Amino acid sequence: MNIVEAIRTRKSIRKFKSDPVGKSTIREILEIAARAPSAENTQPWEFTVITGDLLDRLREENVKKIKEFAVPPKEMEYLMVERPKGSIYRKRQVEIAKKLFKLMDIPREDLEKRASWLERGFRYFEAPVAIIITADKSLSIQGSYMDVGSVMQNICLAALNYGLHTCIENQGITYSDVLRKLIEIPDSKRLIAAIAMGYPDWEFPANKVESDREPIDNIITWCGL
Ligand SMILES: Cc1cc2nc3c(=O)[nH]c(=O)nc-3n(C[C@H](O)[C@H](O)[C@H](O)COP(=O)(O)O)c2cc1C
Repeated sequence: MNIVEAIRTRKSIRKFKSDPVGKSTIREILEIAARAPSAENTQPWEFTVITGDLLDRLREENVKKIKEFAVPPKEMEYLMVERPKGSIYRKRQVEIAKKLFKLMDIPREDLEKRASWLERGFRYFEAPVAIIITADKSLSIQGSYMDVGSVMQNICLAALNYGLHTCIENQGITYSDVLRKLIEIPDSKRLIAAIAMGYPDWEFPANKVESDREPIDNIITWCGL
């Protein structure tokens, strides 16, 4: 698959088949992805790969938290920020949610269906693999976020070469206390995002979603041309 095709084909997948992914394949994807650029080659990223029974336990523990309406630990509170009301960012957020709810036949007022949709992310969309991306807390957020973003996109693109798809997700790290307890991720590591990875279930309605993009001419300022 060429680069342009990979970039255009990548999309967030929200239900995976249970087929396992070989350790050597995951390792190869991460090795390729880690060729990402980073400021002064600091390579702040670290990966924790979770599969099998442990991943199933993680799903269950996360869902327990959701059902208890547990407040995320302080370190993850920043994930809960709302986009400014009336802003274009909020509008885009609402638009993708509407598209997904329409495909999934979830009426706005159906709280039960909405709750079970919400749980999906906390269950890593049933993926056979969850990758938790961390960076050392000795690095500032500003000093690591951009670099880690590029490695995450590389993971999503490289995965396509193996027929694997992904969903980057904040939901998967929201309950950092669960992760730190079950997987023993030390306090010295900042949780940045999770990536669910596996073979997509194309029959699942939400996997048919096409997210929009702003027409490119609206966001380019040409100077000197
Ligand atoms: C940092 C980050 C966090 C995300 N967290 C979630 C999440 O928690 N749950 C989810 O369903 N999608 C999540 N997404 C996926 C976005 O919703 C998705 O990328 C966006 O709607 C564009 O769709 P596309 O990836 O299919 O192009 C996240 C994406 C990023 C980059």
